[in-house]
Amino acid sequence: MKIAMIGTGYVGLVSGVCFSDFGHEVVCVDKDPRKIEMLRRGEVPIYEPGLDMVMARNVAAGRLTFTGDLAAAVDGADAVFIAVGTPTRRGDGHADLTYVMAAAGEIGRALTGYAVVVTKSTVPVGTNRQVAAAVRAANPAAEFDVASNPEFLREGAAIDDFMRPDRVVVGVESERAKAVMADIYRPLFLREFPVVYTDLESAEMIKYAANAFLATKITFINEMAMLCEKVGADIKAVSRGMGLDGRIGNKFLHAGPGYGGSCFPKDTQALARIGQEHAAPCAITETVIAVNDRVKRRMIDKVVDLCGGSVNGKTILVLGVTFKPNTDDMRDAPSLTIVPALVGGGAKVRVVDPQGRREGEALLPGVTWADDPYAAAEGADALVILTEWNEFRGLDLGQMAQRMAHPRMADLRNIYPPEDVREAGFVAHVAVGRPGFGVEG
Ligand SMILES: NC(=O)c1ccc[n+]([C@@H]2O[C@H](COP(=O)([O-])OP(=O)(O)OC[C@H]3O[C@@H](n4cnc5c(N)ncnc54)[C@H](O)[C@@H]3O)[C@@H](O)[C@H]2O)c1
Repeated sequence: MKIAMIGTGYVGLVSGVCFSDFGHEVVCVDKDPRKIEMLRRGEVPIYEPGLDMVMARNVAAGRLTFTGDLAAAVDGADAVFIAVGTPTRRGDGHADLTYVMAAAGEIGRALTGYAVVVTKSTVPVGTNRQVAAAVRAANPAAEFDVASNPEFLREGAAIDDFMRPDRVVVGVESERAKAVMADIYRPLFLREFPVVYTDLESAEMIKYAANAFLATKITFINEMAMLCEKVGADIKAVSRGMGLDGRIGNKFLHAGPGYGGSCFPKDTQALARIGQEHAAPCAITETVIAVNDRVKRRMIDKVVDLCGGSVNGKTILVLGVTFKPNTDDMRDAPSLTIVPALVGGGAKVRVVDPQGRREGEALLPGVTWADDPYAAAEGADALVILTEWNEFRGLDLGQMAQRMAHPRMADLRNIYPPEDVREAGFVAHVAVGRPGFGVEG
C-alpha cells in the first residue's frame, strides 16, 4: 500500500512510522518546513519513547520519507490520512476544523487516481461528510471514498498502542474503501487485534464517547478524593477496592491534579458542544469539565495551605510540568493552571522536568528551570510533585528534606506513602484524597 500522511505531529508521525513498519510505503507531509527538515536529518521533533528507532529503521529500508509537498505525496497514494490538529475553537468550545478542511481541499486538488481519504484527526460527527464535500468541490472528477479512522494512542506509549491496539475503528461506506483499509491494517488483523467496521457517524462518535468516558472516570475518582479528605478515608484504598471489581477496572482510577493534555480537555468540550447543537445535552460531560476545573484549582489551595496560608516570598520546587510522564506535551497540562497561580502569589518557583523545558519555557514565564531535583531543593520552602516521571518516583526523600529550608511536600500524584515522607524528615505533607500531616485547616 502507498500511504500519504498529512500532518506529522504526535499522531501523524507515530501513525506514519508504524504504517511503514507494517511494510507500507509512507510519505509523511507537514506544512511546517522546520519539522520536515528535522525529520529528514533523522531527528524526531517530539519526545516519544522508541519512536526514533522505529523511524530510523524504516527510513533506512526506504519505506518512509518526509516532504512539504502534499501534491507529490498524494499522487498515486492508495490512502491519504488526515492527521492535522483539531484544537478548541476560540470562544465556543467547538473543535476547530480549519486545518482539516484546508487539508481536504488540498488533497482534492492533488488526487490523481482512486484513493481513500481517511480522517484520523478527532472530529465531530458529520465531519467526514464535510471532508467528502470539500474534496469533491476541489476536484469534481476525483475518484475517492472517505473513511473515518479515529486514533486511540496514548502519548508516552504511542508505539506500543499503535502496534498492539485494543481495537482499530474504521468507518466506511463502500466495499472498495473497506478493502483498502483492511489491507492497511492487515498486519494487526492477522495478529487478532479487533477491527471494528462501522458507519462514518458511529466511528466519529466512538472517539468522543471513549475520551469523555475516560475523562469522567478520572474526574469521578478525583471527586471521591475530595470527599475522602473530609471523611478521613484514603483514596488509594478506595481506588483499589473499586478497581478490583471487574466491571469497573483499575485503569484511570488514580486521584491526581485533574486531567489535562492534548485530548481530554478539548474533546470533552467539543462533545458538550455537539450535544448542545443537537439538542441532546451531554450533561455528564458538561459536569466533568466543570469539576475538573475545580480539581485543578483545589491543588493551588493545597500548596498555599502547605505553605502556611501564603506562598508570597516562598521558594517552591515543582517536579514535573508535562501533562503526564514520557511526553514533552504541555497542552492543557494542570501545571499551566497551578504554576502561574504560585508565581502570581509571589512564590519563587523552580521547575525540574525531564522533557518539559523546550515547550514549557514560553508557557511558564517567571520560573527558574533546573535539571537536578536535589540541587534544586537547596533552600526550598516546599516541594510540589505534579507529574509522576520515573525520576521522581524513587527520590531519596531524606536527602531532599535535608537540603530544603522547610521540608514540606505536596504530593499531587500520591506517589509516596505519608509515613515514608514523615520518616524522611518532612514536617508537613499534603496529598490528594488521603491524610497528610503538619498542615492546619
Ligand atoms: N496527541 C494525541 O495523543 C492524540 C491521540 C489521539 C487522537 N489525536 C487527534 O489527532 C489529531 C492530531 O493531533 P496531534 O496531537 O498529532 O496534533 P499536532 O498539533 O501535534 O500535529 C498536527 C500537525 O499537522 C500539521 N498540519 C496542519 N495542517 C496541515 C496541512 N494542511 N498540511 C500538512 N500539515 C499540516 C501541523 O503543522 C502539525 O505538525 C487531533 O485531532 C487530535 O485530537 C491526538
